[in-house]
Amino acid sequence: MIDELLLPVGPDAGRLINILVKSKKVPTILELGTSYGYSGIWLAEAARATGGRLITMELSEAKSKYAREMSQKAGLADFVDFRVGDAVKLIGELSVPIDFVLVDLWKDLYVPCLEAFYPKPFGLSAAKRIATGSNNSHASVMRTGMIGTTTSLMSPRAARTSFNRAS
Ligand SMILES: C[S@@+](CC[C@H](N)C(=O)[O-])C[C@H]1O[C@@H](n2cnc3c(N)ncnc32)[C@H](O)[C@@H]1O
Repeated sequence: MIDELLLPVGPDAGRLINILVKSKKVPTILELGTSYGYSGIWLAEAARATGGRLITMELSEAKSKYAREMSQKAGLADFVDFRVGDAVKLIGELSVPIDFVLVDLWKDLYVPCLEAFYPKPFGLSAAKRIATGSNNSHASVMRTGMIGTTTSLMSPRAARTSFNRAS
């Protein structure tokens, strides 16, 4: 079952997001799709190094609990705020500006998550490669430009502009 798979970003993307976050001063980082905490370790280490913090959102309570335990083992739990629920809804409840977003949940949620941000600003986004698909959501997301490399980056303005073009 897909829900039990790890589906982590992998070491190359992990290193990349770690470096990108470290280019920011005291960043508030948002991760959409905690899963079992692999990418969160890279982000939390960057949060610790920069004096920032990570907010990570996950639908599954069990996965979030496991990820929290792993972050405790890694000595990084103090830098992470684990939130359980539907990220689309939780984004709307955010009260702090976000400096970096890792979008890594199910692909049909990428566009709804971007929409949930609007008109709130965010600093920089990284989205995991999106597989080609035939449904409209995938097609829209592909047209946003968030595809092509393992991780692609967009400014909030570019993301929104591309989204408008796609819809
Ligand atoms: C590809 S995995 C994330 C992998 C993780 N970022 C890593 O690299 O270790 C996607 C995750 O998104 C979660 N997810 C799916 N829909 C969600 C939603 N509406 N809100 C929050 N999380 C969701 C899934 O439960 C799954 O754990």
